[in-house]
Amino acid sequence: MRTQVAIIGSGPSGLLLGQLLTNAGIDNVILERVTKDYVLGRIRAGVLEDGTTRMLDEAKAGERMHAQGLPHDGFDLTFAGRHHRIDLFELTGRRVTVYGQTEVTRDLMDKREETGGLTIYEAANVTPHDFDEAKPYVTYEKDGATHRVDCDFIAGCDGFHGASRKAVEGNGLDVFERVYPFGWLGIVADVPPVSHELIYANHPRGFALCSMRSNTRSRYYVQCALDEKVEEWSDDRFWDELRRRLPAESAAAVTTGPSIEKSIAPLRSFVAEPMRFGRLFLVGDAAHIVPPTGAKGLNLAASDVRYLFDGLREHYQERSEAGLDAYSAKALARVWKAERFSWWMTNTMHRFPDTGAFGQRIQEAELDYLVHSRAASTSLAENYVGLPYQVAEGKTGPTG
Ligand code: APR
Ligand code: PHB
Repeated sequence: MRTQVAIIGSGPSGLLLGQLLTNAGIDNVILERVTKDYVLGRIRAGVLEDGTTRMLDEAKAGERMHAQGLPHDGFDLTFAGRHHRIDLFELTGRRVTVYGQTEVTRDLMDKREETGGLTIYEAANVTPHDFDEAKPYVTYEKDGATHRVDCDFIAGCDGFHGASRKAVEGNGLDVFERVYPFGWLGIVADVPPVSHELIYANHPRGFALCSMRSNTRSRYYVQCALDEKVEEWSDDRFWDELRRRLPAESAAAVTTGPSIEKSIAPLRSFVAEPMRFGRLFLVGDAAHIVPPTGAKGLNLAASDVRYLFDGLREHYQERSEAGLDAYSAKALARVWKAERFSWWMTNTMHRFPDTGAFGQRIQEAELDYLVHSRAASTSLAENYVGLPYQVAEGKTGPTG
């Protein structure tokens, strides 16, 4: 088989890139290791920056998001028993949209099917070859046979555990990493959210987050130790722990109910540099991971796709390599700022095992300063709604 762009991975990065390419008349094939249902079964974050919503619109996959997504103009920070609202819209003129990553994935899959895009599911041993040369190709195994896809470019959109980054390890790849000494225990429950906006809670017992998927489905998290076992967390134990970490009036307002999902996720900051190796490009989680505290994972995947798609379109339509040549530097500049923000928000909101009561007081002082300083609140808000994309002069980005 021959295509112009071989895309490895059918998560948000691969699907968004694939749809923008298809809409621009650039041929592409997606190779995915697991089944469609498995991909749709993953539960992940759900806060979209407006740059991400614009990308979904550009992909012509934004209709349901506009109908069902919840626009949020602010969120609450709680600490020392009190609530403080960060008014994102008043501080930045922008808002975020709460819409689950699973729904984003489903909408992009539906659009791909509708526009005739090819995705090969259950492709085993996907391996990129010859990306340092003019004629790269990808091999994979399916139904007992080895197949080959010849292409111009390979987009490695295969997440943190994928084959693309592995293919360039030891090939000039530098990695930067911080693993945090705790995880998040998260549940989904079909109960109305405790508040119409998100609550990020700092508490001496540990961080908690009240989020949602809709007005009838809640998503809650509590910070937990890395060696906790999910089986040891009954729903009642979870609800009790969540309420203890919230100010009294919020705790009293929590509607409890049976969880429909419960899992523990570790927290990690990770960046791989560069993001281009000849004709192979790393995109999204394949190149970087952020702890979920700043809600940046999916949004960074979208900004990578912005830069890579622009570069590929310029290559095919304008015969210019400028965009592709700039991809890694541009993407990394935005990635590192989101890494910094996610790391800062993680440090400010969580209980760290080694800093004790002193660390708690420092966090409370920082948060008190933050919510009473317009400059500091604006800095938080502009990072949360998403820093601008770097776009070529004369072209419009998400902020202009
Ligand atoms: N071959 C083919 N496909 C693979 C391989 C492989 N060797 N390894 C992984 N994949 C697939 C996975 O099954 C998954 O469907 O690649 C896809 C990667 O998707 P994601 O992990 O969702 O990564 P990405 O598309 O970059 O999306 C980033 O996802 O993890 C969240 O927080 C992150 O929200 C962010 C978003
Ligand atoms: C979520 O809804 O899952 C969510 C929201 C905000 C975050 C992280 C996760 O910062």
